[in-house]
Amino acid sequence: MGKVVILDGEVLSAADARISVFDHGFLFGDSVYDVVRTRQGVPFLLQPHLARLKRSAVEIGLEIPATDLELTEQVDRAIAAAGNEESYVRIVVTRGVGDLELFPGTCGRPTLILIALPLRLPAPHVYERGIRLAVVDRRRNDPRALNPDAKTGNYLNNVLAMSEARKRGADDAVMLNTGGFLTELTTANLFFVRDSVVHTPALDSGILNGITRSLVMRMLGEEGVDCREGRYTRADLLAAEEVFLTSTTRDAVPVRQVDDQVIGEGAAGPVARLLFARFGALTPPTFVGP
Ligand SMILES: Cc1ncc(COP(=O)(O)O)c(C=O)c1O
Repeated sequence: MGKVVILDGEVLSAADARISVFDHGFLFGDSVYDVVRTRQGVPFLLQPHLARLKRSAVEIGLEIPATDLELTEQVDRAIAAAGNEESYVRIVVTRGVGDLELFPGTCGRPTLILIALPLRLPAPHVYERGIRLAVVDRRRNDPRALNPDAKTGNYLNNVLAMSEARKRGADDAVMLNTGGFLTELTTANLFFVRDSVVHTPALDSGILNGITRSLVMRMLGEEGVDCREGRYTRADLLAAEEVFLTSTTRDAVPVRQVDDQVIGEGAAGPVARLLFARFGALTPPTFVGP
């Protein structure tokens, strides 16, 4: 299985890909990224991912040093060079190399990195049995401090939340915002079902506008399932009949337990099963993204 890096346009092996320790992406997490995956070898929903990469860059005042066409070409090149059946491609743009000071004015050209790896999906039993979540004490970044809707290289908030969840024996963390309302997981969006209505925290809760989140909302609409966005508490989550997460690399994964509360039957519920079937039926050439 191949790992390939394209660093500022040069195709390299993983071992040969090096960046300067004076790159502000390394020093300060001053960077943005996005992740796209393939389905049947074809990058899935690449345009929304590139659009989000651009939005993230605007949010931190960073210029992407390539056009969408050039990025698309590099994504294709990375996938071909890595030669995997299905690929994970991470596109990273850092502030670039500068002086050892916070102000980015000394940085030259942003560094553009693409990393192509074999796509690793959760094991099949995860879609059957679900995962465990902990509602952690660590709060999600306040949008006024660092907007969670910008996918930046500064993931320390999420790293610390994940560590707290693992310490409590859970697989992932649910983070509340500074107002005490549900936001999202460390690398996924959150959904729950109550009285047969699907709910997900609204964008203004301070979350990443997940591309899979939008896709799932659209799929549910097509299936005639009522899906609402709102402001919710931990108590709403614990009272749910069903909980699941969404992300590019996992589609929709059921949750069997939140803190000490077993959710539903403690396994995948009907909405997660419906989504599993919908994702399994996706074929990129005929699919038009949200
Ligand atoms: C914080 C966070 N929320 C949500 C998501 C899910 O977003 P998407 O469905 O676009 O992968 C991610 C995925 O990278 C994430 O890092």
